[in-house]
Amino acid sequence: MSLLCKKAIGKEIKNNILTLSEEARIAKEKDPTIINATIGMLYDDDEKLMRFPTLEKIQETLTIVEKYAYADTTGGKDFALAIKKWVFRNYLSEFEKNMHLSVISTPGGSGAISNTFSNYLNEGEKVLLPSYMWSAYKNMARELGIICDTYELFENKRFNLSSVKEKILEHKKNQGRVLLVINDPCHNPTGLCLKHEEWQELVSFINEVTTDGTPFILLYDMAYIDFYNAGFDYSRQNIRLFQRFNDSVLTVLAFSGSKTFSLYGLRVGAMIGLSKKESDIIEFNNANEYSSRAKWSNVSKLGLSIITKCILNDTYKNAFEQELSYAKELLEKRSTALIKALNSFGIEPLPFDCGFFVCIKVDHPTLVKDALVELGCYVIPLDNAIRIAICSIVEKDMLPLAQKISQVLKGRQ
Ligand SMILES: Cc1ncc(COP(=O)(O)O)c(C=O)c1O
Repeated sequence: MSLLCKKAIGKEIKNNILTLSEEARIAKEKDPTIINATIGMLYDDDEKLMRFPTLEKIQETLTIVEKYAYADTTGGKDFALAIKKWVFRNYLSEFEKNMHLSVISTPGGSGAISNTFSNYLNEGEKVLLPSYMWSAYKNMARELGIICDTYELFENKRFNLSSVKEKILEHKKNQGRVLLVINDPCHNPTGLCLKHEEWQELVSFINEVTTDGTPFILLYDMAYIDFYNAGFDYSRQNIRLFQRFNDSVLTVLAFSGSKTFSLYGLRVGAMIGLSKKESDIIEFNNANEYSSRAKWSNVSKLGLSIITKCILNDTYKNAFEQELSYAKELLEKRSTALIKALNSFGIEPLPFDCGFFVCIKVDHPTLVKDALVELGCYVIPLDNAIRIAICSIVEKDMLPLAQKISQVLKGRQ
């Protein structure tokens, strides 16, 4: 008989990205010709984990307390101000005039997602996720007894608004509330980015279905927002649309300090609650501070201090933004090279606009992954596709990788 309690029986992470990636890292240490396209961390052109010089400089200025003390569970006032300034940029005063908002620090965007699942769905209720998705959503839902449902991500190579709408209506009818997850821009794993007009239509539809007071939570997973090649202003113009929501809608913006600042191991992120209704934001604050205290207590003081100082000091902020532009250019060069190489072998990846990953739909992804490992290439198998992390491989690897993918796929035909 299992010693596990009933709800823990059957828990097992299959194809854990972090485990596969560690395997690939060890293999590459032994054989540098290995191509490790597993992990969503940005590497520079010397195949070293990206380090932003400005953040290194800031770290040297921090006091012992700023590095090692316990942080406030919420992250504190300065962190909240920094995150609001970063996320809303030129529109912060407009947001503060029209909406109520609040920031809680979390261990990466992951903590923000987990807290949102905890506090806005009961056990047995459904969360609405994209059909291609970051697999950790499913683990977080399972951990909380929440059921995963999906909308089709694509229709004619664009965001499938009809499927999202259909599913929203179904959830409204069957459970009287909706928790919709949109991961945009630079969707993981496909690289899809919603156009402004697509966001406009989605926001109008959510307003229509909530005029009767149906509770609606939009979990906006913005992990990769700062790598969007359309620029800071385009992405913030999309966020600006959230001001149009009526007062039945709560938007939770899940911000990842791991991705924007390449501080993956420091585990800093934030959840920002945004609503027309003050009482919803007071509740957001109370429930999420409580959950944070209960689950992880607080986040890394070192990470909070680096991020806060970087955003609130204009000299550091300007320098960091320059460094971030370079990182965006790297990604763009790599995606262009990979897609060109794949196309030259007749392979069409899933629709890609921008981001850390390119995805190819395949049958038997685990077998494809295993065959690629035999050829010295590591990718991540998903339910019905393989994911290539262009963030972690250099431009010169794109052609050999595409050639090996082609060889494996042809061998399986
Ligand atoms: C889509 C997506 N959302 C959120 C995250 C959260 O990352 P972190 O918790 O490190 O901020 C990731 C990380 O890979 C991701 O891919």
